[in-house]
Amino acid sequence: MKKMEVVVEGSCYVSGRLERCCVGIEDGKIAKIAKLLEGDKEYHFGSKLILPGATDAHVHFRDPGMTQKEDFATGSLAALYGGVTCVFDMPNTRPPTTTVAAMRDKKKIASAKSMVDFGLFAGVRPGMDAAGLAKESIGFKLYMASTTGELLVPSLETINGEISAIASTGKVLAVHAEDESMRKKEIEKDLEDHLRNRSNDCERIAIRKVKEAAKGCRLHICHVSAKSSIPLIERVPNLTSEVTPQHVLLDVSSRLGKLAKVNPPLRKREDRHALFQALKEGTFDIIASDHAPHTIDEKHEDFDYAPTGMPGVETMVPMMLQHVKDKHLELSGFVRMLCERPGEIYGIRKGKIAVGYDADLMVVDASAGTIIRADNLHSKCGWTAFEGVSGIFPHAVFLRGQLMIENGGQVGERAGRDVVG
Ligand code: DOR
Ligand code: ZN
Ligand code: ZN
Repeated sequence: MKKMEVVVEGSCYVSGRLERCCVGIEDGKIAKIAKLLEGDKEYHFGSKLILPGATDAHVHFRDPGMTQKEDFATGSLAALYGGVTCVFDMPNTRPPTTTVAAMRDKKKIASAKSMVDFGLFAGVRPGMDAAGLAKESIGFKLYMASTTGELLVPSLETINGEISAIASTGKVLAVHAEDESMRKKEIEKDLEDHLRNRSNDCERIAIRKVKEAAKGCRLHICHVSAKSSIPLIERVPNLTSEVTPQHVLLDVSSRLGKLAKVNPPLRKREDRHALFQALKEGTFDIIASDHAPHTIDEKHEDFDYAPTGMPGVETMVPMMLQHVKDKHLELSGFVRMLCERPGEIYGIRKGKIAVGYDADLMVVDASAGTIIRADNLHSKCGWTAFEGVSGIFPHAVFLRGQLMIENGGQVGERAGRDVVG
């Protein structure tokens, strides 16, 4: 029997089910899956689960320009501890990632600092070079309403040409779907006020408009948050969708106040329940964190001034694994939404334990539950909206065959690279 470079043995999730077997790894890729394999390096995890590493298709690592909130080193370390071996970073940094030059600069930063693999989104802006940006980016991101950063495109008529250019690149157009003209600008004192300014219709109308305006594009609707939006994203050809843990686990009645101020807003309990139900039924393609760190001082400003967004890249997988353990979510749904679909939609060989895929793996001990504590997390922002919530953090994590987390602690060398090239 030919020896593999690395062999990982355990209860592996292969072709939709768990089986006790070995994953043979050569050159960072899965080369063979068999009952018994020998390797120069062997890792035996007994009955622990071996799952594909997760891809978080929506993070804001703030680098460059807002590194007081986060940078690529801290954000990607948080990702790794949370079982996320690949992240797609959003373009609302400073400068925004809307030019090939800015894209290349960010790529240098991420290549030097990232603990996990990454893709970079290009921001949509009138006059941008879509063909040039497509070569460097994982996809395009469009902001239809004002939020953190300066990438607002208030009217889709101003970007007709850019939309056609994106369509011809074949890249995904990911959309922050809130309609700027529907957004109210009343002073806000609490989460209820924030929700009133950004109503369910504000999201529904934006989704309707972008579906109409971007017919030729592969559309991806980010962070769907309202019950009334669900019918607009279900079973639509060329359209995929995403939901965040915060929109299925928290609602406007949260006592977290400003910490839970996010865009789109946390909505009513009935929205949250409808989203969770839809999630279980497989309506959404992806669960992504929308990891949007801000410093605690910024978050403690008066409600109206406090920035929107919360961190989540490290807590997403652990909380969702807890839901699998509690039987609120099937393991197959977890793997599909957090591992497989991001890879399929964005065209990268990640998210499956199958020959030819990157050997990104998380090893999970389902009996080892923990309580989430901000003190134990790795984002620079230092806080979490999920303090005290139960989670199952990965016992070990491999990135392209390299052991990066062992016994819940960091071991590997920094090796993150761009999935686009
Ligand atoms: O709450 C949010 N925060 N929503 C966004 O769309 C942007 C994000 C951020 O970058 O802070
Ligand atoms: Zn957004
Ligand atoms: Zn976002």
